[in-house]
Amino acid sequence: MSADAAKRGNRLFLKKSIEQVQHESETHKLKRTLGAWNLVLLGIGCIIGAGIYVMTGNAAANYAGPAVMLSFVVAFFACIFAGLCYAELASTMPVAGSAYTYSYTTLGELFAWVMGWLLVLEYGVAASTVAAGWSGNVVSLLHNFGMEIPPMLTTSFIQAVPIDGGMTFIQSGGANILGALGILAVTGLLVLGVSESATVNNIIVAIKVGVLLAFIVMGIGFINFENWTPFIPDNEGGFKYGLPGIFRAASVIFFAYVGFEAVSTAAAEAKNPKRDIPIGILGSLLVCTIIYMAVAAVLTGVVPFRELGVSAPIALAVDRMGVGWFSILIKVGAVAGLTSVMLILTYGQSRVFYAMAKDGLLPRVFSTLHEKFRTPWIGTIILGIAIAIGAAMLPIEILGDLVSLGTATAFLIVCISVMHLRRARPDLERPFTAPFGIITPVLGIFFALVMIAPLMLDIYDKAQKGDLIPATLLGGYLSLGGLIYIFYGFWNSRLGKGLPQHDDDGPGPGAMQAQVHGIGDSNAPD
Ligand code: ALA
Repeated sequence: MSADAAKRGNRLFLKKSIEQVQHESETHKLKRTLGAWNLVLLGIGCIIGAGIYVMTGNAAANYAGPAVMLSFVVAFFACIFAGLCYAELASTMPVAGSAYTYSYTTLGELFAWVMGWLLVLEYGVAASTVAAGWSGNVVSLLHNFGMEIPPMLTTSFIQAVPIDGGMTFIQSGGANILGALGILAVTGLLVLGVSESATVNNIIVAIKVGVLLAFIVMGIGFINFENWTPFIPDNEGGFKYGLPGIFRAASVIFFAYVGFEAVSTAAAEAKNPKRDIPIGILGSLLVCTIIYMAVAAVLTGVVPFRELGVSAPIALAVDRMGVGWFSILIKVGAVAGLTSVMLILTYGQSRVFYAMAKDGLLPRVFSTLHEKFRTPWIGTIILGIAIAIGAAMLPIEILGDLVSLGTATAFLIVCISVMHLRRARPDLERPFTAPFGIITPVLGIFFALVMIAPLMLDIYDKAQKGDLIPATLLGGYLSLGGLIYIFYGFWNSRLGKGLPQHDDDGPGPGAMQAQVHGIGDSNAPD
């Protein structure tokens, strides 16, 4: 190997300096205004969305039956340990709001790229997923007013159909144009610089939690206890029911918790990070888990679980309750809540790409700011179109699995980063350290694998049976990421060239992070 090639090899693991990142945080100080309670609300605001409104139905119908309630507990554990690791990194590098930057400083450029590409699943593909769920709820709401949208305009091009032992995918001939339009509308708002303030977040949280609590309270009276028997249906092959089904369902509804990292990335804004960050993470996850389990109990109690594999299961359950005004109320709340999640996720995606473009790993269109609106408008529009195409073409079942897979892998890397950084830089000041020494990151890795394993096995299983769509999508996605890095990122990396970040796009972090509750990156424009 030539000296030049050897240097390039090392380059893959070239790291950003932590001191530089910390210095950026000092020069762009955020105000420490968030208390424990704000952080709990922040987490809930980012967490509740299509996961509970839509995916719970699929998880119960196709995998776990009423035992989907237990799947929520498994998924809770998959989040809690990784969440504490996130918080440790975020408190050490408070300016770096995204896992992308943590990887760049701890494991090097290749891992940073991998993390950035995984975050596309966690934010971009998640936005497509929520749009698909949003569309189902809009259709159901309009139905209450006697308006019908042709199914060809609301059914994704590839459609999931149940089969023995699971589900398979076929072409529907339609496209979810409604979901795509929802994302394009949100993209327009983001180009104009609309994002949620803390007050708007609190209102949205009140709506989202209020809707679910109302569903629980009203629904209790309609529960038919026979629908809960058997609680764990016998396995019917593959991941259909039984213990394998509970874990497969956990990997589906893991999606419902995505977003809680926003709490950890708000470490720079916490009044007392040592105390408030763990309270924020644990508190928001616990509150959501309790609400989720109660919603799942009512859902599977009101509607026999085999009937829940529809695009708007909560809407189906309220319709079964037969109280017209209540049905409209719940659906309006669901649509409002899902709209806010689409906004947060699309925003998060545009800012991850913004950070990567500033580092030279992606083309500069993604970091070019609009003169008036000060938003990365071209990048946001490109992303908005891509996310809209995802929503139009792919069913929520595939999209959701990709999100869970990407997010669990991102969690895995975060836990490894914590262990690595503790060994490599024990000297660093850590305002918050994940408790129980090495146990927390190790458990984080273990539970991330518990999420990943059923997803990968299912993709493999489907491929074996001739259904190559999920495997092709995953393989294509990973190959595309690899090609972009090999042909663009590697050659244009600012760090690799020994150059500072592109800085002609405005100074950096701060305000934007505060506005959207920490989702996104350290380098978002002011
Ligand atoms: N957790 C978010 C949702 O369920 C992404 O929509």
